[in-house]
Amino acid sequence: MPYILVLYYSHHGATRQLAHHIARGVGKVSGMEARVRTVPQISTVCEATEPDIPIEGDIYCTLEDLEKADGLILGSPTRFGNMAAPLKYFLDQTGALWQAGKLADKPAAVFTSTSSLHGGQEATLLSMMLPLLHHGMVLAGLPYGDGHLQQTQGGGTPYGASHWSGPDGSRQPDETELALCRSLGERVARLAQQLKNAA
Ligand SMILES: Cc1cc2nc3c(=O)[nH]c(=O)nc-3n(C[C@H](O)[C@H](O)[C@H](O)COP(=O)(O)O)c2cc1C
Repeated sequence: MPYILVLYYSHHGATRQLAHHIARGVGKVSGMEARVRTVPQISTVCEATEPDIPIEGDIYCTLEDLEKADGLILGSPTRFGNMAAPLKYFLDQTGALWQAGKLADKPAAVFTSTSSLHGGQEATLLSMMLPLLHHGMVLAGLPYGDGHLQQTQGGGTPYGASHWSGPDGSRQPDETELALCRSLGERVARLAQQLKNAA
């Protein structure tokens, strides 16, 4: 079954929630499924600190998961206006895929969560696109056409899905944020099919 890889890092769970709503959107497209994967925390010392299989939650992504995907939706909490180091660390291991052009011409999109409303969602989303462009992926955002982008009270941008978790991180995604997550998943899944059929 062709699949869209929904790959995320999340420390407190907000970005994980978005990932699973995006996966629901992917599942709306018949003939396409979502594969939700995460990456391990990284250590500041040079020794492994995480088991190969996480004790709970989504399993860790392999390079093969990425190589075989028909599209990629990449998510991270905002860390100083940028993606979190564990996700960047994973991407930094994709040089061989880049050299072989394994991700070229596949659709991709991005999502994030922040604790402050204007704390860098769009900067993070744009910066997450950069390595994907180097890989030759075809970036998809969110169009204003379905109306949700005009109604945001928290996250939600044309650059990708997003969520505002609030100062203490406890704010749950609202209906608009979740609708935009599902739209993003559905859109990338549809684009993946269209690009595949056109190849
Ligand atoms: C080191 C660090 C840097 C952060 N930088 C930002 C930031 O630049 N802007 C912001 O609004 N939130 C920032 N945050 C807050 C997280 O982005 C926010 O709590 C997010 O919802 C966490 O997502 P998660 O639950 O998936 O881990 C930062 C958090 C940490 C730990």
